Amino acid sequence: MARVVITGKIPAIAVERLRAEHDVVSWDEPVAITREELLKRVKGADAIVSLLTEKVDAELLDAAGPQLQVVSNVAVGYNNIDVPACKERNVLVTNTPGVLTEATADIAMALILMSTRRLAEGERVIRKQDPWQWGMFYMLGLGIQGRQLGIVGMGLIGAAVARRAKAFGMTIAYTKRSPLDAATAKELDAKHMSMDELLATSDVVSLHCPYSPETHHLMNAETIGKMKKSAYLINTARGPVVDEAALVDALKHNVIAGAGLDVFEHEPKVHEGLLGLDNAVLIPHLGSATVETRTAMANTAATNSLAVLAGKTAPNLVG
Ligand code: GLV
Repeated sequence: MARVVITGKIPAIAVERLRAEHDVVSWDEPVAITREELLKRVKGADAIVSLLTEKVDAELLDAAGPQLQVVSNVAVGYNNIDVPACKERNVLVTNTPGVLTEATADIAMALILMSTRRLAEGERVIRKQDPWQWGMFYMLGLGIQGRQLGIVGMGLIGAAVARRAKAFGMTIAYTKRSPLDAATAKELDAKHMSMDELLATSDVVSLHCPYSPETHHLMNAETIGKMKKSAYLINTARGPVVDEAALVDALKHNVIAGAGLDVFEHEPKVHEGLLGLDNAVLIPHLGSATVETRTAMANTAATNSLAVLAGKTAPNLVG
């Protein structure tokens, strides 16, 4: 029996699958585990099932010990894990691609609609009981039909957002290191562009790249400044892909029309400057937050850990 440490509460079905074969230690409190407690609990772990709120770095790996075989992140993004530090210690890393594609794409599409049609702003009017009346020119937004969606990072989630946006009548442009395969490019009718061209021509720019040193502050004062004044920026990827201070400045001075954010640079802290801006739609990292998706993510992470502990190849190895 191996020791599996789960760093936060995950759906019971995945815990039971791990418990059927191994000795499982889990943190079931509704608040995130403290670092101190986590460092204690991981001691002797053969597998760590981690949430994206936990930093898995050299200190944590060393606290676990040399028997550690695998870290299975319950997320597709794994920027919370120091992959080179895992490699140095022969620890495998896995993630959960595929199962959260549709849920996250739904949220990106929702943010596109919320931003361009001013839905959060409108809801605030009703809730505050501010006076309002239907009016020919009241709270007009941008119609997205015929407008260009620029997708930065055309992976599984980017393509799923493109499908939705196409159904809403948008045209699709994208950046990607290598262009899409011909069949997908044809299906999405998507145009491969340089970042500069995409920024200059898109009406909505949606971020779907992983977070890494290369994508840190990819959207900054300079790149935001290259967007159309009438354009919107959507981020469902990772907060630090956007320089939040620069975005606040741009939104305040109408450098762009608006932003829809599911993720923040210093989560769960949100830049104070965003809070008072009507042209920013702010939601608390809900991309994969459906019962079905979170269950599938936890099951995928369990499958990955179980495979490694059984001496098999894990389906979702990264790095
Ligand atoms: C969620 O943000 C994920 O990366 O799975």
